[in-house]
Amino acid sequence: MPLDIAKIRQDFPMLAKTMHDQPLVYLDSAATAQKPLSVIDAMTDFYRDHYGTVHRAVYELAIRSSGDYQETRQKIRAFLNAAHDEEIIFTRGTTESINLVAYSFGKAFVQPGDEILISAMEHHSNIVPWQLLCEDRQAILKVIPMNERGELLLEEYEKLLSPRTRLVAITHIANSLGTINPIKQITQMAHQKGAKVLVDGAQSAPHLKVDVQDLDVDFFVFSGHKLLGPTGIGILYGKADLLNQMPPYQGGGDMIETVTFPKTTYNVLPLKFEAGTPMIAEVMGLGAAIDYIQALGIENIQQWEHELLMHATAQLEQIPGLRIIGQAQDKGALISFVVDGVHALDIGTFLDLKGIAVRTGHHCAQPVMRFFNVPATARASFAFYNTKEEIDYLATSLRDVVRKLRP
Ligand SMILES: Cc1ncc(COP(=O)(O)O)c(C=O)c1O
Repeated sequence: MPLDIAKIRQDFPMLAKTMHDQPLVYLDSAATAQKPLSVIDAMTDFYRDHYGTVHRAVYELAIRSSGDYQETRQKIRAFLNAAHDEEIIFTRGTTESINLVAYSFGKAFVQPGDEILISAMEHHSNIVPWQLLCEDRQAILKVIPMNERGELLLEEYEKLLSPRTRLVAITHIANSLGTINPIKQITQMAHQKGAKVLVDGAQSAPHLKVDVQDLDVDFFVFSGHKLLGPTGIGILYGKADLLNQMPPYQGGGDMIETVTFPKTTYNVLPLKFEAGTPMIAEVMGLGAAIDYIQALGIENIQQWEHELLMHATAQLEQIPGLRIIGQAQDKGALISFVVDGVHALDIGTFLDLKGIAVRTGHHCAQPVMRFFNVPATARASFAFYNTKEEIDYLATSLRDVVRKLRP
């Protein structure tokens, strides 16, 4: 069903703003998405009218907060089609979810000489935690290479998988290139060698239908703020049998069963991994964000964003001197690009003066920049609330950049 974009935009107060006396054209949703009123209201209503802690008290406010908190967990379970509510752990974001798995899975399962596989197109959040783990456990980090279009070389991946591979940590959609990786196939190949798979879903959960049981991934992580939700909240999905075998990541309140000075025993899932008073308002906000996306239909979102991507690619390809970095067959709705002779930072600054917000820099993916031999790119990333007119305005403005700044 086609989305009514004009109507949708009215739900997002930020999309009605101006910047440098121009209507704001927000093309940085891959960094963080704008928020609909329902998300903002869910958080302010909670603070204004219902505020109370979770898990720790018998009074009505706390009972209600605990119920709403648990209801969001159920919503996320349904959103990802996970088998059990307790497989959904609240964290602060993708970064914390990956660090949690690197620490805890690493402690339980990684021995000296074992191998962790990542890919050449990972965000730093899916590189550095594994480097820390490998340093700590004397394990070996290996990298699946990609080609010039920004697609993984699956035949090389096959060769890198070994009986020592404990885990493959891979992005679903690369934030710096847009590549959508064939996760189901990657997971089947890993499982054949007995390796587990963690998928960085920071860029996919807001844009594609994710079914963790169909993909059969062992861990799937994402951030609330890229999916219309608040900052400071994220998700770790993990298969219950694995999470049950992993030690806690942090110690504190809620994650315990009994505490004595000689020995503490731990709570069951999911609380074993949720130490301390959680981000309650953020969980409420994320629940409202999931409701909003479910009401639109993730397949409808995916379809419109693909149309935006096709439209933008066709326009940008025609601009003299502009080169798109990341030309995978299967791509999410973002375009990284460089313009001959013009630094990405200057492109970003020039576009900002026209009211257009794009990201410039290395996108927390320095190895990708090195691979393509560019210091930085500009990146326009789209969400379902963007319009073709905004993309046309981006293209016209980029032609202006080329005319004025290209030597
Ligand atoms: C692919 C990918 N992984 C991980 C992250 C890190 O997410 P966060 O900073 O929300 O933890 C991002 C954010 O840009 C991302 O795009």
